[in-house]
Amino acid sequence: MIEQTFAGRSVLLIIGGGIAAYKSLDLIRRLRERGASVRPVMTAAAAEFVTPLSVGALAADKVFSDLFDREDEHDVGHIRLAREADCIAVAPATADLMAKMANGLANDLATAVLLAADAPILVAPAMNPAMWSHPATQRNRETLEMDGVAFVGPNSGEMAEAGEAGAGRMAEPLEIVAALRDLLDSLPMPLAGKRIVVTSGPTHEPIDPVRYIANRSSGKQGHAVAAALARLGAAVHLVSGPVTIGDPADVEVTHVQTAREMRDAVEALLPADAAVFAAAVADWRAQTEAGEKLKKAGGKGPETLPLTENPDILAGVGNRTKGRPALVIGFAAETEKLLEHGGAKLARKGADYIVANDVSPDSGIGGEGVMGGDRNRIVLLSPDGAAEWPEMSKDEVAERLAALVAERLAE
Ligand code: CTP
Repeated sequence: MIEQTFAGRSVLLIIGGGIAAYKSLDLIRRLRERGASVRPVMTAAAAEFVTPLSVGALAADKVFSDLFDREDEHDVGHIRLAREADCIAVAPATADLMAKMANGLANDLATAVLLAADAPILVAPAMNPAMWSHPATQRNRETLEMDGVAFVGPNSGEMAEAGEAGAGRMAEPLEIVAALRDLLDSLPMPLAGKRIVVTSGPTHEPIDPVRYIANRSSGKQGHAVAAALARLGAAVHLVSGPVTIGDPADVEVTHVQTAREMRDAVEALLPADAAVFAAAVADWRAQTEAGEKLKKAGGKGPETLPLTENPDILAGVGNRTKGRPALVIGFAAETEKLLEHGGAKLARKGADYIVANDVSPDSGIGGEGVMGGDRNRIVLLSPDGAAEWPEMSKDEVAERLAALVAERLAE
């Protein structure tokens, strides 16, 4: 159940050292099932309560914990970790972590990230009631609130220590999710004010009034991309070939049949900030469209069907010198030599990225395969190189692409 608020958003989760750390595992799951990506940072003390292995497995990301990890600092670094997050959750936040935050200490990765962050921060304290009510902790809470930090909890109730009760229990994962939702909803949408054109589906190229040339594209991936971009606040205009799936929510749609109609519709929608070409445009059309249904003559059909090439819509937009969208993304449907063929398309069509997918029947994708099915495995090609994404649903591919578009357009 993807939620608009969380879809494509990245939450940096800082896990402090407390018994409540086990609840953060559930929090990760709850956030991810709503469409957020979760990047975990653990303090050294947190690793005494939950293992980085379980945190990393649930987050499907690397667990960051060391400020002076050469590899991480080189690769990602605390500044980038801080900048790439849409919001930061500190759960559980110990009295010690709160004290460091309130005083701007930065002697480990978690606190360095918090000091470098400009994203909104939510703190879920968890500590013994005596520690929570201590004037020092309350002073720190006030300081943090004045700095704009939001709080959820702590709740009152029984503590892990036998016989102790009072305020200090960490808020439940769903309460933290609700508080993060409020925080994220108060932020501007990452693609607000951006105009994006998306093509999707096959094209039908008529031979005569009843026959046409087509391909197996379902439009599922392109429609999912349009929907994901709209969820991030973009004004999306989808130009769709003939498909059997419905129009995505909050997206304007122009329905077309042929490649030439698709090109005209796309050109009429420019200028745009970005354009994503997910349609499987028919490369050829019949040279002439017969006005009447072609008849068998003496038991024989026409021996040949002369074809002519269709305009390449992506190449026409990607290679523009004037009025080119800032970001142009193409797809490549390949049955062999994915990298070689996809890479060639990148240059030839003037795209910033090519989303290459293996549409061969033996791609290893179960069910109906990539064309028509619900899953996809892609390689993202750019002039910087190739990134292989693991197999995932077409909706997840769309979320990740939308997040990439937001990141690139923000540059
Ligand atoms: N494309 C397009 N117009 C065309 C053909 C393709 O806009 N007439 C776009 C597709 O939407 C996709 C990309 O170009 O983003 C690559 O499409 P693909 O069918 O893989 O490439 P082709 O150029 O058709 O090359 P080939 O069929 O030889 O692999």
